[in-house]
Amino acid sequence: MSDGSAYALPKAELHVHIEGTFEPELIFALAERNRVALPYQSVDALRAAYQFTDLQSFLNLYYAGMAVLRTPEDFAELADAYFRRAGAQGVVHAEIFFDPQAHAARGVAFETVIEGLWSVVRASEARYGISSRLIMCFLRDRSVAEAMATLEDALPYGDRIVAVGLDSTESGYPPSLFRDVFDRARAQGWKTVAHAGEEGPPSYVWEALDLLRVSRIDHGVRSLEDPRLVERLRDERIPLTVCPLSNVKLRVVRTLADHPLPAMLERGLLATVNSDDPAYFGGYAGDNYAAVADALGLRTSTLVELADNSFEASFLEPAARAAYRVRLESAAAALSG
Ligand code: HPA
Ligand code: ZN
Repeated sequence: MSDGSAYALPKAELHVHIEGTFEPELIFALAERNRVALPYQSVDALRAAYQFTDLQSFLNLYYAGMAVLRTPEDFAELADAYFRRAGAQGVVHAEIFFDPQAHAARGVAFETVIEGLWSVVRASEARYGISSRLIMCFLRDRSVAEAMATLEDALPYGDRIVAVGLDSTESGYPPSLFRDVFDRARAQGWKTVAHAGEEGPPSYVWEALDLLRVSRIDHGVRSLEDPRLVERLRDERIPLTVCPLSNVKLRVVRTLADHPLPAMLERGLLATVNSDDPAYFGGYAGDNYAAVADALGLRTSTLVELADNSFEASFLEPAARAAYRVRLESAAAALSG
């Protein structure tokens, strides 16, 4: 696919971890500014370490990289760098995960994280032409009590957060553990999402739907192993935020050519394409569209369908969602005309 539509089509990014957009150059710059020692001699040496065998091998580096983030300005710079890149990828709306517990573990207060991110997110439409929302994730490999305490920390900033999510090490940490936390989050007026079915089994996707009452499943690629689950996802139009380059790098699929994205669309699933942790996995949103188009021979009309799905699956208000879908239609018409 070389008509440029992968980048040109307006799209929403619904699965991106802000800490996963931390490029090695910025990691080194902030390490120096904050006088934090890194176990790598250079940007190239750090980048050369990005060879993953599974989710955990990635997470180890992901948590190490973000350890240089200390001040609100650091978080603001990280977010600013993401929006600058996202704009060139056709992203017009972004719903961005952040991991407050990963920062609290090093003594960085919730307030530091949210103030830094919010200073950029609140102005993203005016500054970059990209609307945005924040999704606070709980780390599923840490305790339920810690997740609940994090939720309490977030309460004063409730209107800066659209939803809560669940991420980090999946296997052995089923969604059911976090039922009370998610009940509390929904009572608070937050929507809910959860990573499920990336490395974990289809039963984790069922639990996310039935116990956490999520509006979307993050990843969910293993759902295809369970025909009844596929029916449920299709009938209820539950969105799946699929991350193709991530799936290859973390060996969820062998190659992009083997990716189940086309099977998901054929089965009528509301699949979207996203970048997950673009600084680590070799591509931002448009790069993911381009890569699947190329490896799977997708037509431009399928890319348009994926972009349309991204708006349908977003947490935008109905009028804004409708406006973006009209803008997509015009862009698609201009490409085919
Ligand atoms: N899976 C789980 N946790 C994560 C991921 C992911 O792909 N990226 C960042 N945290
Ligand atoms: Zn993710």
